[in-house]
Amino acid sequence: MSKMKIVDLPTVREVIRCASNMYRMGWDERNGGNISVIIDPEEYRDYLPEEPHRVFQLGFDATPLIGRVFVVTGTGKYFKNVDVAPEVNLGIVRIGKDGHSAELLWGFEDGGRPTSEFPTHLMNHIARLAVNPKNHVVMHCHATHALALTYVLPEDEDEITKTLWRMSTECIVVFPEGVGYLPWMVCGGNEIGEATALKAHDYRVVFWGMHGVFAMGDDLDEAFGLVETVEKASQIYFLTQDHVRQSITDEQLKKLAAAFKVDYKKII
Ligand code: 13P
Ligand code: ZN
Repeated sequence: MSKMKIVDLPTVREVIRCASNMYRMGWDERNGGNISVIIDPEEYRDYLPEEPHRVFQLGFDATPLIGRVFVVTGTGKYFKNVDVAPEVNLGIVRIGKDGHSAELLWGFEDGGRPTSEFPTHLMNHIARLAVNPKNHVVMHCHATHALALTYVLPEDEDEITKTLWRMSTECIVVFPEGVGYLPWMVCGGNEIGEATALKAHDYRVVFWGMHGVFAMGDDLDEAFGLVETVEKASQIYFLTQDHVRQSITDEQLKKLAAAFKVDYKKII
């Protein structure tokens, strides 16, 4: 039996499918958005080379991730092209023994490199793994209505959380911990990564003011589902503004939390 190709590893195929879906949702115009997913050794052991093709300097200390292997989207790459040329638009990298480098084991065949948001991704992986060892995914995108929400709501994560919870009955069940919010910052560097990672300790969804959202999860379905849910709630906010006659009350939110036994953030 011939050996499976690296592009056919289940995690790589899932990233390809996810990027295509995110593109079709309209969340990833041009090169907007990025994905990183941990691949476990059982999956890649017989396929990836030991010797890296190239090495990238990270510019920060990623020691807790030494030896971890990630599928990651490339900087400047378009999500709409991931499925037609995965070997160019995606890479598989291993965090080097020095904790400051990423070793390219597959992909980025045109000389590309990991997303400019890789510092934020890796810092978020570190933060989430510390509270949930099963976390495998960090995802960033420019979900349209969620992004628009940051222009019209107060810059207050509890206000944003309460608005989202009220927009759809399922919200408090899907993200009972609420969402984090960061005011506008320059993207693509360590500073925004550090600020996001502080939020990622408490939240699986972090809004970036006037930019987009980050979502974290055990798998791509969880992270994608979180973006879908906050995006839909944000859309409902814009559909109902100026028309609204009734809204989900705090009492109803408390009843939902009790019925679904979710430990929600006590801001109501
Ligand atoms: P990259 O092309 O470097 O992934 O950047 C896209 C983006 O959304 C920046 O926030
Ligand atoms: Zn972005």
